[in-house]
Amino acid sequence: SIQPVILAGGTGSRLWPLSRELYPKQLLQLIDQTSLLQTTLLRAARLPAVLPPLIVVGEEHRFITRTQVDELQCFDEYTILLEPLGRNTAPAVCAAAEYSGRHNAAGTVLLVLPADHIVRNQPRFQEVVAEAAELAGRGAIVTFGITPQYPETGYGYIERGEQGEVVTFKEKPDRSTAEQYLESGRFFWNSGMFAFTAESFRAEMEEHAPAILATMAKAVAEGERDGCFFRLDRQQMERCPSDSIDYALMEKTAKAAVVAADLGWSDIGSWQALWQVLDKDDAGNVCQGDVYLQDTRDCLIRSEDMLVAAVGLENTLIVETADALLVAPLSRAQDVKQVVEHLKRTR
Ligand code: GDD
Ligand code: MG
Repeated sequence: SIQPVILAGGTGSRLWPLSRELYPKQLLQLIDQTSLLQTTLLRAARLPAVLPPLIVVGEEHRFITRTQVDELQCFDEYTILLEPLGRNTAPAVCAAAEYSGRHNAAGTVLLVLPADHIVRNQPRFQEVVAEAAELAGRGAIVTFGITPQYPETGYGYIERGEQGEVVTFKEKPDRSTAEQYLESGRFFWNSGMFAFTAESFRAEMEEHAPAILATMAKAVAEGERDGCFFRLDRQQMERCPSDSIDYALMEKTAKAAVVAADLGWSDIGSWQALWQVLDKDDAGNVCQGDVYLQDTRDCLIRSEDMLVAAVGLENTLIVETADALLVAPLSRAQDVKQVVEHLKRTR
């Protein structure tokens, strides 16, 4: 059987002013009335032989998370693992593996699903997960490779060997390395999804990231159940090193395998990425909320509270919320991250 592990921590600062510390992007209704967390859960719910999901989130998001899971009514049972503080994805996955190791039969396959991207091809998703689960059952740490489109430096890259083994895993390479990878034709983008058994994951963590494994094992052993919540121990998490699973494990393990995952995958990391995946009008505009346009092309305009009118704009992003307004060329959507960093320092 498959144990879905949904990662829904972090904030997604490039979607400011919509994403906030208290309302991170995976909980926002960006595309329709469903949040990215919810679409991820729905995707998992349609898998065969699926166990009640484990959702890993920051403690501060426990109520919104619970409300969103209940709203879907696709899982009667689920557990929300609460992190008293964020330590990035390696500890989050480790907590889920430890928890699963205590509650599930040996050999259960953990399927790690980040809640920050979309998958358009559900039937293909199910096939690829079945393929990954098979490999994971034989001890592999399985990654899902996406055919790369351009030399993105914000992703991990996976070089596939003859037998589907991972030859190289490189997280967030610099620009020129990413360009070389793309030209070679041998690399995939890492989707951020993983499949493995708790047993092989622990053995690999023991070898490559023993401090994270040891503290997170204790964080689970000393954790507390509270209804559908399971709160990881704060003191142990404070001691736990902060690292992502990509750096802590994937760059180091010799057990990695990759399955080609042509799933209609898109990361929703920025406003521009969001604009790309949304349905547009004939002039290439995406309008959300009360918006009126004249002679405007290729814009993303979102209003939460008031009527927004635009005249003669091109390639422009406007996001209006109750307490902040963002206006920028859509092509500079990545730079919103710097705005958030500035605001964090100064306010
Ligand atoms: N519970 C929990 N706790 N979740 C977290 C935490 C945490 O401390 N930090 C991040 N997450 C969640 C995010 O919500 C997201 O869904 C997922 O874990 C991945 O984290 P990101 O911070 O978005 O990672 P990234 O985008 O820089 O890189 C990862 O994803 C890329 C594809 O989107 C890597 O796996 C890359 O290799 C990959 O290409
Ligand atoms: Mg991401």
